[in-house]
Amino acid sequence: MTRADAPLPQGEEKARVVRRLFDTISPRYDLVNRVMTGGLDIGWRRRAVRELRLPGRARVLDLACGTGDLCRELEAQGYRAVGVDFSHGMLMAARTSAPLVEADVLRLPVADAGVDGATCGFALRNVVTLTALFEELGRIVRPGGRVALLDVSEPDNPVLRAGNAVYFRRVVPMIGGLLSDRSAYRYLPRSTAYLPPPAEMVAMLRESGFPDAERHQLSGGLTQLLSGTRG
Ligand SMILES: C[S@@+](CC[C@H](N)C(=O)[O-])C[C@H]1O[C@@H](n2cnc3c(N)ncnc32)[C@H](O)[C@@H]1O
Repeated sequence: MTRADAPLPQGEEKARVVRRLFDTISPRYDLVNRVMTGGLDIGWRRRAVRELRLPGRARVLDLACGTGDLCRELEAQGYRAVGVDFSHGMLMAARTSAPLVEADVLRLPVADAGVDGATCGFALRNVVTLTALFEELGRIVRPGGRVALLDVSEPDNPVLRAGNAVYFRRVVPMIGGLLSDRSAYRYLPRSTAYLPPPAEMVAMLRESGFPDAERHQLSGGLTQLLSGTRG
């Protein structure tokens, strides 16, 4: 695991660190998530799936599905979900009836235009290159299909932003340390530094084949939701 002051890993080292980290925290991932967000994460995932606005029974791939929360929400909203993740531990801890595939989301075993939609929850900052992920989305989602992608963000409001920063730096590692693995929950807040600024992310998604891409702030900007239609 990386030290608190170590430079964040890049390239293939980042992929190795991320996979190992999620294998380590998988048994208590759901519990820590619920405690850390006070249950807000359930509403964020529900909102992301609503943003898809696809016909019933549409095929939706959940990228970096982890323990399957978004897969369950996709099925609850009438979609046919398939989850993909490269952490064996997270897949073994998953609680979903959706089929799950162990694979790297940057090299998806999916045909061009092979799905109606895709979701991704809190993993944009985990992939080695976000451009590669967005290009893969542009390849696999059929024209007219939709994507909905969640990750953490910084609120615009300065008071909320300061509170959020303290929460991430101090409280998250403490909760993670009590319930799971402290060094992992020190790394995860630091990993938000990988995320490009909001306008840049929207521009990247547009350039990857989603010309109407937009960004929504959830819970005062604690979380961001990127959505778009494949052109
Ligand atoms: C913070 S968890 C999010 C899990 C789930 N989406 C959720 O909403 O709770 C990030 C997940 O991304 C997965 N992940 C990161 N990079 C990946 C990659 N390149 N390919 C597949 N899975 C990846 C990790 O294994 C982990 O399960």
